[in-house]
Amino acid sequence: MPHVKLGVNIDHVATLRQARKDVDPDPVSAARVARSAGADLIVCHLRQDRRHIQDKDLHALRKVLKTGLHLELADRPEMIKIALDIQPDWVCIVPETPDEVTTEGGLDLKGGKAGSLDKTIKRLKDAGVGVSLFVDPEAVAVRMAHNLGADAVELCTSEYAKAVGRHKQHNELEKLELAGYLAHELKLELHAGHALDYSNVVPVAQIPHMRCLNIGFAVIARSLFMGLKPAVAEMKRLLQQQP
Ligand code: PXP
Repeated sequence: MPHVKLGVNIDHVATLRQARKDVDPDPVSAARVARSAGADLIVCHLRQDRRHIQDKDLHALRKVLKTGLHLELADRPEMIKIALDIQPDWVCIVPETPDEVTTEGGLDLKGGKAGSLDKTIKRLKDAGVGVSLFVDPEAVAVRMAHNLGADAVELCTSEYAKAVGRHKQHNELEKLELAGYLAHELKLELHAGHALDYSNVVPVAQIPHMRCLNIGFAVIARSLFMGLKPAVAEMKRLLQQQP
């Protein structure tokens, strides 16, 4: 089975810094530590309200990370302009609403509703940036991602993570697996993430064709008690666990 990459999302290091609007804790230092502990990618979400990651962080991250910078953002002209300027290795386009605590689900692509996504995807790809779309694990969304020209889909795992009881969990995992098979058939690279933690990640990492999991909150929360390096290393170990 190929290696499942770990993308560590450092947004919540910036959330803590922004609580005082000072310089510590520094997300760029966190990125360095996470990479040294085995993170394959560093993930961050530049929100329109700049509640955590700031524009200056992106410039600093790009300087430090020669590879593996994965930027999440909404499909808004001003955000795409920033992405084109920063040139991350990946952009994951996510839905964003002002009052949400965190991203609430995948892009709404039902009924062929794609807005400007096809143009955005083309602009980013033409600039050499890999593009993934954050989608719910549904065939219609995966097919749309393919039709729109995305390189990858990131399947939203929040329903799986919220599922209580073995039966419900199994159903949600099966949805992820089926969407994963379809993505693979359509030659889309398969990523997944959102609300994954140390107790629920292994079955998702073992989904056939899975290439990358993006995980933030659980790793940063654990790092408060054990340090970032061991928290990342432990997540990396779980991703490498054989079935
Ligand atoms: N993937 C996407 C598209 C996200 O928006 C987020 C949250 O920023 C994550 C993964 C990471 O989610 P969590 O912090 O719950 O691990």
